[in-house]
Amino acid sequence: MLPLLTVLLAFMSAAVARPDATFERRATPTVYLAGDSTMAELKGANGIEGWGHYLQYSLSVPVVNNAISGRSARSFTAEGRFDGIASNVKSGDFVIIEFGHNDGGSLSPTDNGRSDCPGAGNETCTSTYNGQTVTVHTFPWYFIQAAKLFTSKGAKVIFSSQTPNNPWESGSFSYSGGRFITYAHDSAITAGAAYIDHGAYTANIFKTLGLNTVKGYFPNDHTHTSPVGADVVAKAFVKGLACAGTGTSELASYVKNTTSGIQGTCI
Ligand SMILES: *[C@@H]1O[C@H](CO)[C@@H](O)[C@H](O)[C@H]1NC(C)=O
Ligand SMILES: *[C@@H]1O[C@H](CO)[C@@H](O)[C@H](O)[C@H]1NC(C)=O
Repeated sequence: MLPLLTVLLAFMSAAVARPDATFERRATPTVYLAGDSTMAELKGANGIEGWGHYLQYSLSVPVVNNAISGRSARSFTAEGRFDGIASNVKSGDFVIIEFGHNDGGSLSPTDNGRSDCPGAGNETCTSTYNGQTVTVHTFPWYFIQAAKLFTSKGAKVIFSSQTPNNPWESGSFSYSGGRFITYAHDSAITAGAAYIDHGAYTANIFKTLGLNTVKGYFPNDHTHTSPVGADVVAKAFVKGLACAGTGTSELASYVKNTTSGIQGTCI
């Protein structure tokens, strides 16, 4: 009986390990960030900062913040920025992708180079941008292509839902995720990427903190946070990372803080 049991257990653990078979741990992986101004290194200019700046303080491995203001999933792709990150990515690295704030809007009458083609699948739109005829894809399509690119390099990809605009803006708390959050969630399943509902984690903490505190986090508009606000937004991400069930256990193993020591509750 014993050899059979051993074989059975070996088979079971192999079966459990299979989803991560292409992912191999490296001693000191790098965490790459791809996103927009809400994640970018803004150096506190105009009193605002992106949350990506603060992620380094919660992790024991280096963070390279390649987020850049004004970008959408489409323009980050079109400018070759995912390819640029991929040229540095090694097996065992992590790539966190978060977009949405610049992905809305219409392609006509004027295409701003950021708006995505509407839809959740492989639909395409033909548009004119910078005097050229361009094919524009959907938000999920750009996310899934990026995930394929990084996964083929042996990296672990995490889709993060976009940060909320100030949910206290009206004077009472109101948060609803919107379509780019649904897209990020659904395309993570399609792409085999991990997913953190960063929007919901952040909104939950903002709800607890109350109107006056959160108002102070948005000095210029309802989208961009102060450095203190960005630190809270980063911690909300780390909470999501550390909570079980988000498919992020590999990166969570590099979080310095204990899950219970991080602000917020698991969702
Ligand atoms: C989109 O195209 C890809 C690649 O051809 C295919 O695997 C996938 O099933 C398509 N998705 C949908 C929603 O049709
Ligand atoms: C984790 O602890 C470090 C101090 O070691 C702190 O800077 C960071 O903000 C903490 N992160 C979270 C998510 O609480």
